[in-house]
Amino acid sequence: MSGQIAGKAPLPVEVEAGKTYWWCACGLSKRQPFCDGSHRPTPFVPVEYKAEKDATVWFCACKQTGRAPLCDGTHNKL
Ligand code: FES
Ligand code: FES
Repeated sequence: MSGQIAGKAPLPVEVEAGKTYWWCACGLSKRQPFCDGSHRPTPFVPVEYKAEKDATVWFCACKQTGRAPLCDGTHNKL
């Protein structure tokens, strides 16, 4: 089961080493690519991402990735 398509291209985020991020799996968040609590009436829960280093991370916006929370290129087939 995949979430609703929130966008058809990944969203780059500058993550900070040691910080935890919660990726929106349901696609309903208004704060993409992250969870804003909108999943509550759905069976979805956010996916945790722990940054090991400062980096630019490409989070999946289409919610169809096989490598959540990261983009795996699946959006190209939508
Ligand atoms: Fe989508 Fe929380 S709002 S998982
Ligand atoms: Fe979802 Fe690329 S944005 S796979």
